[in-house]
Amino acid sequence: MTQKFYVTTPIYYVNGDPHIGHAYTSVAADVIARFHRLNGEEVFFLTGTDEHGQKVEQSAIEKNIDPQDFASNISARFREMSDLMEISYDDFIRTTQPHHIKGAQALWKTIEEKNYLYQDVYEGWYAKRDECYYDESELKVNSQGKKIAPTGAEVEWIEEPSFFFRLSQFEKPLLEFYEKHPEFLGPLSTHNEIVSFVQQGLKDLSVSRTSFSWGVPVPGHPQHVMYVWFDALSNYITALGYPDTSQQRWKFWPAHLHLVGKDIARFHAVYWPAFLMAAGLPLPKKIFANGWWTVEGQKMSKSIGNVVSPKDLVEAFGCDTVRYFLLREVPLGKDSDLSKQALITRHNVDLANDLGNLAQRTLSMIAKNCDGTLPKRGPLHHDDKEILGRTSVLYDAMTRQFEDCALTQSLKDIWDVIRACNGYIDRQAPWKLKKTDPQRMRDVLRIVADVIRVVAILLQPYMPNAMSRLLDQLGVEQVNRQFSALDHIAAGDIQLPKPQAIFPRFTEKEQ
Ligand code: MSP
Repeated sequence: MTQKFYVTTPIYYVNGDPHIGHAYTSVAADVIARFHRLNGEEVFFLTGTDEHGQKVEQSAIEKNIDPQDFASNISARFREMSDLMEISYDDFIRTTQPHHIKGAQALWKTIEEKNYLYQDVYEGWYAKRDECYYDESELKVNSQGKKIAPTGAEVEWIEEPSFFFRLSQFEKPLLEFYEKHPEFLGPLSTHNEIVSFVQQGLKDLSVSRTSFSWGVPVPGHPQHVMYVWFDALSNYITALGYPDTSQQRWKFWPAHLHLVGKDIARFHAVYWPAFLMAAGLPLPKKIFANGWWTVEGQKMSKSIGNVVSPKDLVEAFGCDTVRYFLLREVPLGKDSDLSKQALITRHNVDLANDLGNLAQRTLSMIAKNCDGTLPKRGPLHHDDKEILGRTSVLYDAMTRQFEDCALTQSLKDIWDVIRACNGYIDRQAPWKLKKTDPQRMRDVLRIVADVIRVVAILLQPYMPNAMSRLLDQLGVEQVNRQFSALDHIAAGDIQLPKPQAIFPRFTEKEQ
């Protein structure tokens, strides 16, 4: 039976334009989705926009636009960002879609029927920017003596009638679950943070608001709208047809991976599993929290004016380079800094020199000295076996690394092989063999072409366009680009197209 794989990005708030931080989570999820597709699995990849809540309503009011029009406008920009970054989503959900609203209400009713909801009055702190309730004990004081959220967001005191979810009842079940499934939450720092948060005790959670109206109406209580996180988290199941579990897509539940930013780990690792337990639904298999990007050493912010748009970066460097940079620079769970110089260096050193030159010089030599046809495999020397051996273990390592979202480590391992292959070609010096032993020259070029073929197949999830062009140049047919074809050794004598540089160097004057 074909294995299934369901991966999600967070759904993005529509109160502002997409920036590189949003693109990051989407690219990481996309690399994982593509990896599993190339593995022959049936993948469902979900992304979308989170359109309700006080923050979106306020942004719409400030601009004097109807919240629905405002949301539609910005949602379209997130879709554009996804397309620009080559995000291969299977569905783009919007929380204002009728099927989502019905699904969120159905989840509410199920939880209510199971007696996990009750009405009371919420009195406490709320941060609109985070759409999060904070306990007094969590707050800090800023330089003006004002209380602020641990994230730095402004907080306001609210008192309003509200429905509460009996979160306190899930303290023990959650702790037991984390202990039984240590792989559920990654990276380790997030796991530890969440476990200690739950160990400190869970209070019941306010899950509806009455002081504004831009949200999903609570069934039977139209003066209440759902807390935006109740509405938003349910997107992961409403996109699969919930509550209609007879729908085709429902087979993808439970999700294999919710990829989220570290700032929203609490909602995904505490509230979401508790809602699902309350509703009697299976829990996702893994939640992994990525780190945050700063820009040239500073936090991205509208007031500083340093918000980096994915569009600007892609226009300057191309989508493949940006994707490669984002995932190569730092392991997924860690924070990182985006600097133009670091991007240029990654492009010129890793892509243009290490990989681009290797491909270019090999393919040019084949074009000039082998009538443009891929030579047949010759007898293998010790050095040939060594580099082929190192190449052949990459896929197994990558499979393990992808289970742990170690996407950067896979790139490092692949680059070790690329560099080793550059060493191999320098030692073998086919340009000298051309005169002394043309047959061995052909054999060496064929070994290098085979290493590049494997590397290019494995790099497809990261750089789909560039690798597609490289595989074209190597004469690899579409059917042989799946991971199942990694061991497929072409017979040889295949006519190759004219070689073209895959990653031209980025020069100063282009900046
Ligand atoms: N709407 C909620 C998510 C609901 S999921 C059921 C939300 N939206 S968001 O637009 O504010 O953030 C979406 C994602 O972008 C989060 O994972 C967040 O961590 C990520 N990032 C926002 N700024 C970022 C950086 N500067 N760097 C990396 N990721 C960042 O939260």
